[in-house]
Amino acid sequence: MSEASVSTTWKHPDKIRPAALPGAVRVSTALDRLGRRNRDLAPPPAGSSLKPVPGNKGFPLVGQTFSFMLGGPDFTRRVYDRYGPVSWIKSLGLDICLALGPDATQSVLVNADKAYSQSGWEWFIGPFFRRGLMLLDFDEHLLHRRIMQEAFTRPRLAGYLERTDELVAKDVAGWPEGGQMFAYPTLKRLSLDIATHIFMGDTTGEDDAKLQTAFIDTVRAGTSVIRADVPGLRWHRGLLGRRVLEDYFRAKLPAKRATETEDLFSALCHVETETGETFSDDDVVNHMIFLMMAAHDTSTITTSAVLAALAANPEWQERAREQSLALDGELSLEDLDKLTVLDLVIKESLRLTAPVPSMARKAIKDADLLGHHVPAGTFISVSPWFSHYMPELWTRPEAFDPERFAEPRSEDKVHRYAWVPFGGGAHKCIGMYFGTQEVKILVHHILRRFRWTTPPGYVVPWDLLALPMPADGLPLELHPLS
Ligand code: HEM
Repeated sequence: MSEASVSTTWKHPDKIRPAALPGAVRVSTALDRLGRRNRDLAPPPAGSSLKPVPGNKGFPLVGQTFSFMLGGPDFTRRVYDRYGPVSWIKSLGLDICLALGPDATQSVLVNADKAYSQSGWEWFIGPFFRRGLMLLDFDEHLLHRRIMQEAFTRPRLAGYLERTDELVAKDVAGWPEGGQMFAYPTLKRLSLDIATHIFMGDTTGEDDAKLQTAFIDTVRAGTSVIRADVPGLRWHRGLLGRRVLEDYFRAKLPAKRATETEDLFSALCHVETETGETFSDDDVVNHMIFLMMAAHDTSTITTSAVLAALAANPEWQERAREQSLALDGELSLEDLDKLTVLDLVIKESLRLTAPVPSMARKAIKDADLLGHHVPAGTFISVSPWFSHYMPELWTRPEAFDPERFAEPRSEDKVHRYAWVPFGGGAHKCIGMYFGTQEVKILVHHILRRFRWTTPPGYVVPWDLLALPMPADGLPLELHPLS
């Protein structure tokens, strides 16, 4: 790799946590060392050639919860260095098997023996997003996915693009003429706006506010510390939010069924597979609530990561702008294909800041994970974030270096499961093209209107406790193009 192809070193998001919580990684390391009590997860059955899953129990009662929460990715790397790609930790009261690196990721996501269920997600988001596509398993999941796929065909994507383009162009045109802007809340509002309009179609201003609040409450509830229905607390607000969303979608269903319109809600009411399968009313409601969640947070995180990376790497910002300025008028899918610099930048941003840093599964029968015996009932965590920073896979993994995805380097091709921001296997993100399209449209319009910078030496304080989020809102200095 030539030095010239490497841009300014990206300030490694792992190093952010100590900035936000001074000494957190040091405390995590010390706790980890103090609480280490090596113990295998469970012995393999007699006569089995499998090895047990190695790991340690940590402290009595709390296990490694604090080492894990404070140390984040640094902790995971220590565990990998000590035990290898398959190990276990005790955190949040659960025995969690860590499946780290591309081989373990592949084995779990491909799920050849159907040993791993999506019910691993149930614990985190089940009450608020029940029966969303990601929470279904096996044959039932495949059937629902086949039906939903009809809402994401190329002609439908072209329709969503047209309306997203219109909405974003209008919104960005209204941004202040210059000065400081907090990118994260602005993008979050905008992407929620996109989701309500593109997904739901004909909302009124009043519905928008009510739905957005309900929606934010359901998303937040997943990260509640107190996971019980106590009035006033997050969990309770999440349950109320779920009810508001259900009532809204149910009330609108008859009209959506009666006349086909161009939004996703209508699409789900009318899609049909070649063999005539369709969604029931309950299915449509459950899928809509999940889709809203799956779409908007991930797009906001990705767009924030791209804007931060382009601020820190102005030469890439100029390269991307050149292609955006070369396009004029309304965007088409073919236009988006011409934004090849943004393609590389988005891929690299998704590597450095995977919006879904880890994926949950649960073993529903005894499983063989890379030669280790994983007992039924164990929670599994698959970590794109970990794989994306493995020096075994990536040249200078901490550097922002979009060229790594271009020929001839194609570092992502080293292993099919090296770059996995959208997951893999049967549950691979169904909104991958829609999401990338939205991010591209957003950045394209911002590139055409502004140059943007961050203060010298700025480091994004990614908060990694739930989905990654810039703890400071990501302040950008906007300079309108003359
Ligand atoms: C940059 C944006 C996005 C990222 C990084 C992302 C990431 C992911 C990941 C990692 C999964 C797999 C979860 C698992 O295996 O447990 C997933 C699944 C899913 N995503 Fe996305 N997503 C994005 C955008 C979207 C959008 C825009 C939509 C909808 C329009 C969407 C809808 C879904 C759905 C329905 C699933 C479940 C698929 C299934 O279980 O078959 N995502 N996403």
